[in-house]
Amino acid sequence: MNHASLTGGNGKSASAGAAWDALPAPEISEKEFLSLRRLIHRQAGIHLSPQKKELLQARLAKIIRSQGLRSYQDYYRRVMADDSGRELCQLLNAISTNQTAFWREPAHFQLLSQEILPAWRQQRRAGLCWRFWCAGCSSGEEPYTLAMVLLENLSPEEVKNVRIYASDLNTQVLEQARQGIYPAARTAPLPLGWQTRFFQKGVGRQEGFVRLKPQVRELVEFFHLNLMDDFAFREEIDLIFCRNVMIYFDKETQAGVVEKFYRSLRPGGYLFLGHSESLCNIRHHFTYVKPTVYRK
Ligand SMILES: C[S@@+](CC[C@H](N)C(=O)[O-])C[C@H]1O[C@@H](n2cnc3c(N)ncnc32)[C@H](O)[C@@H]1O
Repeated sequence: MNHASLTGGNGKSASAGAAWDALPAPEISEKEFLSLRRLIHRQAGIHLSPQKKELLQARLAKIIRSQGLRSYQDYYRRVMADDSGRELCQLLNAISTNQTAFWREPAHFQLLSQEILPAWRQQRRAGLCWRFWCAGCSSGEEPYTLAMVLLENLSPEEVKNVRIYASDLNTQVLEQARQGIYPAARTAPLPLGWQTRFFQKGVGRQEGFVRLKPQVRELVEFFHLNLMDDFAFREEIDLIFCRNVMIYFDKETQAGVVEKFYRSLRPGGYLFLGHSESLCNIRHHFTYVKPTVYRK
């Protein structure tokens, strides 16, 4: 196990002791903030209010110092001039907020196991695939919680027909997600018994860390996807989790993404949003089921 890049909750990797940490960070001007804000909105849909100026400065300071740049304008120019897309990728990694947890907002998992799965079992022919998609999955806690819920509630035969897709914009958190290694304390919200059923304990240098067992990891397929891009799945999805992602988008961007989700779902498929999100005040074709739960 390699836990060198593990960072817990927000996915920002700590590079303690790097020489450039000691250099003073330049101040971001209003003009520089506006150019970077526009670029981030155009590329990732993320809307930064004027109050986020200091946050942006703090998140980019390390990159700017490590590259020996003198200003945020120089940094902006470097990102724009880089045809490889690596600088932009690093910028988007730095500005995305990746807060997540196992068993976050458990009402969705309870609704799934107590109502949706039993209904699907009755309605649908055996052998049909059940496809889930966690859009904005961060470091993996959400899709792995879903995998554990399915392993707990489905028969081994049914599990064979499950696919969980999990995507994010941030390439760093996706790498952590693929490893499936977490500080043991992060599993505390999970039901008792799951720690031993679904996790291996680290020993020696990995003491204090746990890793999801292969049966859980193998259920989830991670991939890089910017929700701003056009996307189409080869097969229709049954249930989309997009929780605590669109909260960072403005209404127009939200409407565009929600329309793409609608097209990706099969008729009757579900969309789950985060606890403080809703489709109020945006145009959409979904039917409201209950707070944060919608149906095609
Ligand atoms: C706060 S986390 C939510 C994680 C998880 N869904 C949950 O509720 O615990 C938001 C995630 O959305 C991702 N994200 C933000 N903008 C995105 C975009 N345009 N396309 C894809 N993912 C995006 C971020 O990288 C981040 O990992």
